[in-house]
Amino acid sequence: MARILITSAIPYINGVKHLGNLVGSQLPADLYARYMRARGNEVLFLCATDEHGTPAELAAAKAGKPVDEYCAEMWAVQKELSDGFGLSFDKFGRSSSEQNRALTQHFAGKLADAGLIEEVVESQVYSHADGRFLPDRYIEGTCPNCSYDKARGDQCENCTKQLDPTDLIEPRSAISGSTDLEVRETKHLYLRQRSLRGDLQAWIDSKTDWPILTTSIAKKWLNDGDGLQDRGITRDLDWGVPVRRGAEPWPGMEDKVFYVWFDAPIEYIACAKEWTDGSGRSDADWERWWRTDKGADDVKYVQFMGKDNVPFHTLSFPATIIGSGEPWKLVDYIKSFNYLNYDGGQFSTSQGRGVFMDQALEILPADYWRWWLLSHAPESSDSEFTWENFQSSVNKDLADVLGNFVSRITKFCRAKFGEEVPSAGVWGPEEETLIARLEEGLAKYSAQMESMEVRKSAAELRALWVLGNEYLQSAAPWVVFKEDPDRAAAIVRLALNLVRVYAVISAPFIPDASARMLSSMNTLDMSWPDDVREALNALPAGHDFAVPDVLFRKITDDEREEWQQKFSGKRD
Ligand code: 2FM
Ligand code: ZN
Repeated sequence: MARILITSAIPYINGVKHLGNLVGSQLPADLYARYMRARGNEVLFLCATDEHGTPAELAAAKAGKPVDEYCAEMWAVQKELSDGFGLSFDKFGRSSSEQNRALTQHFAGKLADAGLIEEVVESQVYSHADGRFLPDRYIEGTCPNCSYDKARGDQCENCTKQLDPTDLIEPRSAISGSTDLEVRETKHLYLRQRSLRGDLQAWIDSKTDWPILTTSIAKKWLNDGDGLQDRGITRDLDWGVPVRRGAEPWPGMEDKVFYVWFDAPIEYIACAKEWTDGSGRSDADWERWWRTDKGADDVKYVQFMGKDNVPFHTLSFPATIIGSGEPWKLVDYIKSFNYLNYDGGQFSTSQGRGVFMDQALEILPADYWRWWLLSHAPESSDSEFTWENFQSSVNKDLADVLGNFVSRITKFCRAKFGEEVPSAGVWGPEEETLIARLEEGLAKYSAQMESMEVRKSAAELRALWVLGNEYLQSAAPWVVFKEDPDRAAAIVRLALNLVRVYAVISAPFIPDASARMLSSMNTLDMSWPDDVREALNALPAGHDFAVPDVLFRKITDDEREEWQQKFSGKRD
């Protein structure tokens, strides 16, 4: 049994996330966590809300609420939606937690002790109209790299380049729109990342198994020097982790907070402490996941994130960890994603474009979305959500292939043998062929899941469902029954057992449907079909079951058109 630590990029607190956000980190992380648990590994799966910085302040101001109140409310909303999507976090924490505050200040202290923090008087943009500095997202303008005209002061969403507010062309305040701006001097702490270049280079070079998307972004920022400039880790803001050197005040920095991208990844660690503090566990229980001197050496740590987050996780956060000189666990594998587009354009939170998590659950259960999103995950390139494609995947894969198999065999059994596994007959060559194919398919499915190839895993799973349908089609128990009811019973016995096997192997993708399949098969046996022959005998002759309600319904053309229309405009 292995120990696997899994974190998903922590979503900004500023509103409900769209399906593009979901498939770029939390959902594939959940797929992997569920799979690894199903295979008997010990998993710690963590996520949280990213509550500091300008996104939170701007959203709270828009909602007309104090920022702490806004964050508490939105955390509850996001938590409910993540539960609704079946995201199986062991802890869904908050970056504004007491634990993260202490740990962030601790890291800053250690970095300062190691001589890696420098006080720099820098130029920041001050807005006369707003009476304040405009760091990060408080300022917008044109990207000097790609000319995108809605680039923000911290990063260009279009080309992923990390920016400083003073880099923007034709800058304007994101609060008031004012262009009456002035560059003023203010003192900040800088993390001397450049001096860690050699360590980071060696570490990234050692990761020969990382996906190309991850390493190409990491190496690009490392090698053109851009991502490794010494970076400011403090801001002139009210909301955030107050700047302190460990437990001590930091003279001259009293009114400042740490930059959100400094404290957010530290929340991955703090979240584990939130988990133990909230559940009567001890510090040793979280430290064994995070401290290599306390047992985390044999942990495999995997992070999931969208491509725009890669520079922070391959350079900035490792710089914090390595620079601290303390034995914290570094990530072993970074699975990153391209973008999911929406019906001919981009999903956009700021423009309310696309389908958001709450809206999705209002129209269909989570499994429908989970299946489509995961089977179309933007891995090797950006992918696109269209309503036609969604309708066709749901109707074909879920309703026609899996749903139909389950309904056909359970109903046939009820009609001919009653709602119990029939006992007569023996398996013959057709069953042997099927077993061999299932073994082969399962091996492929497991291999793809192990290597986090999300789309390929979905394709292999679907192929396993197809095998069951093909078997039923060719064994045709409804025809055989007339001449040889015992032979029909043997076929039905296998197929009913296959329903349980499908429930177990499909659970990482479609957990609710899987639970319903297991409950209709009247079993709690979730054991993985390591031995296919044995697994197809798990439900013995005479075992009661019940025909389940329709597992997946079809999406009609009318619904598709209605939803297409409904989601074509801007979200309120
Ligand atoms: O891009 C985002 O949504 C960020 N909130 C991700 C932060 S991940 C981490 F570093 F905490
Ligand atoms: Zn750009």
